[in-house]
Amino acid sequence: MSILSSHEKVETRGFLLLVLILITVSIGGIVEIAPLFTIESTIEKVQGVRPYSPLELMGRNIYIREGCYNCHSQMIRPFRDEAERYGHYSLAAESMYDHPFQWGSKRTGPDLARVGGKYSNQWQVAHLIDPRSVVPESIMPPYAFLKDRDLQASDVVDHLKTLRTVGVPYTDEQIQNAKADLEAQAANDGDHEALLARYPKAATGDFDGQPDRLTEMDALVAYLQVLGRMVDFTDVRTEDLLQ
Ligand code: HEC
Repeated sequence: MSILSSHEKVETRGFLLLVLILITVSIGGIVEIAPLFTIESTIEKVQGVRPYSPLELMGRNIYIREGCYNCHSQMIRPFRDEAERYGHYSLAAESMYDHPFQWGSKRTGPDLARVGGKYSNQWQVAHLIDPRSVVPESIMPPYAFLKDRDLQASDVVDHLKTLRTVGVPYTDEQIQNAKADLEAQAANDGDHEALLARYPKAATGDFDGQPDRLTEMDALVAYLQVLGRMVDFTDVRTEDLLQ
């Protein structure tokens, strides 16, 4: 009887009812949300994933500028047909240094998450200049102009620094050497050893067939050639890659 009467007191006082509801609901909220603050990251780290080299990063900016994501996804879903066509399904950690990520939502063309190393640099350049020269039935638009545009990279250091403020772990050494690394990566006679120590698996050498020029084509192809290559999936179980 007394429970019923105190219930009546609460139910007939709108404000009291509101306060008690808020207290009850926030207990549920705290129980769900508070534990998340104690874990450092919801993304499990994976061996091999590294920040983009300066040249790859500038190529990625061109990829975004040209809207390649409108036709290409970069996320292989964990389904058998996808994994057989494109390779191991994408892991969250593989795009943890992408700001913004390039998962995309439309596949007019194939997924590009693992296109790195699938073709030679010459194929990539020929394809971007005139897609139908290598894939006759292609409906991809040509991007030949990238070969004629010098890469504007005077602000590359700022790009690295900005990414560092949002959590990409560029070291002071990487930032100091950004300009040198950018040029070395696309030069046939560049200091590739130092570059590869800082950015393992980076593709090196002249990309666009014009060794005396650093063009937007060089940067874009350098970017395409590293996609999906940072993590080595051969002979290992996915669980073993988690650090
Ligand atoms: C209008 C849609 C469209 C846009 C925009 C587009 N592509 Fe494509 N892309 C395609 C189609 C369709 C194919 C498959 C036919 C072919 O290989 O050309 C393709 C194929 C590719 C391939 C070969 C993939 C493989 O596994 O064979 C690469 C690499 C590629 N595109 C890169 C790019 C880049 C880089 C850009 C931006 C500069 C871009 N695409 C913009 C439609 C597009």
